[in-house]
Amino acid sequence: MSNPSILILPGDGIGQEVMAEVRKIITWFGDKRDLAFDVSEDLVGGAAYDKHGTPLHDDTMAKAQEVDAVLLGAVGGPKYDDLDFSVKPERGLLRLRKEMDLFANLRPAQCFDALADFSSLKKELVSGLDIMIVRELTSGVYFGEPRGIFEEGNERVGVNTQRYTESEIERAARAAFELAMRRDKKLCSMEKANVMESGILWREVVIEVSKDYPEVELSHMYADNGAMQLVRAPKQFDVIVTDNLFGDILSDCAAMLTGSLGMLPSASLGAPMENGRPKAMYEPVHGSAPDITGQGKANPSACILSFAMALRYSFDQGDEATRLETAVEKVLADGIRTADLMQADGGTAVSTSEMGDAVIAALNASL
Ligand code: IPM
Ligand code: MG
Repeated sequence: MSNPSILILPGDGIGQEVMAEVRKIITWFGDKRDLAFDVSEDLVGGAAYDKHGTPLHDDTMAKAQEVDAVLLGAVGGPKYDDLDFSVKPERGLLRLRKEMDLFANLRPAQCFDALADFSSLKKELVSGLDIMIVRELTSGVYFGEPRGIFEEGNERVGVNTQRYTESEIERAARAAFELAMRRDKKLCSMEKANVMESGILWREVVIEVSKDYPEVELSHMYADNGAMQLVRAPKQFDVIVTDNLFGDILSDCAAMLTGSLGMLPSASLGAPMENGRPKAMYEPVHGSAPDITGQGKANPSACILSFAMALRYSFDQGDEATRLETAVEKVLADGIRTADLMQADGGTAVSTSEMGDAVIAALNASL
């Protein structure tokens, strides 16, 4: 049987640097755990635009459809700010999500003990925090039609459309209920049913799906209240399910609770492929961070932890995923810190690649 395949798309900015560390980790699993992967690499975002004049070449799109998992670094940067909307780096990412039909975006926000002091909230509010946001990723206002900037009388009007079909809501909700079943069996659905019809439908469909999951305690919150509750008392949540735009915002908010955006991984999952694995792309929640690019300051943890999610959700290697997560946790507990985490408590300052090496050392120690 051939090895499972991974397509690496480092993208722009620190995407390159953090992905280099993930490559070391992938190699480690091949050497030490007999988990070899066929790894290929390609361009996305500004890097793809520079070479091909498009943020995602059709050949790259086709490759992404064939592999068992895509690992993406980050896209975007000031150099591309003035590009036409249709070829902006972000369009490459959105095309991957849409054409691979990656409807369930899993964004865990976990607070590592060693980092509880870095949170903008009081330590007791976040220590032990472990929530999972499930963001619908292929529909809603990100993709709804009509969209555009139109002439209307003597002025222009900008239009985007929030649109959800029942089946789109249902499959995202089901993914969230399934996750809740494997966790603390609590699910909170967030929308704005008080002002949006799509929110009313969202709530109705979630309630309908909940009948298949009687063990899960379901609650509903307006998304604005949800944002407030996330910073007031985040530990009340286990799994949160929400639409594409609210999920974008709420997940950044939840991410910051954990101390650093440099720590947070994500998985975007679609329907099962013929081999039973879900269509999948894994990426850190952080962006391309042009301000620190090329300085060895980037924290590779989010990208490394995204590979851990790949081990768990694509390759059925939950124990190895835990091994990797524990290794990252150990490195942090030992006070090893990239620049984003060098605040009050001192610790040992390391570069991006030294952080990767420290994770490898912790993995070696785990054997
Ligand atoms: C994210 C990002 C993207 C989004 C951008 C880069 C298009 O903010 O993944 O959260 O808005 O979905
Ligand atoms: Mg975002």
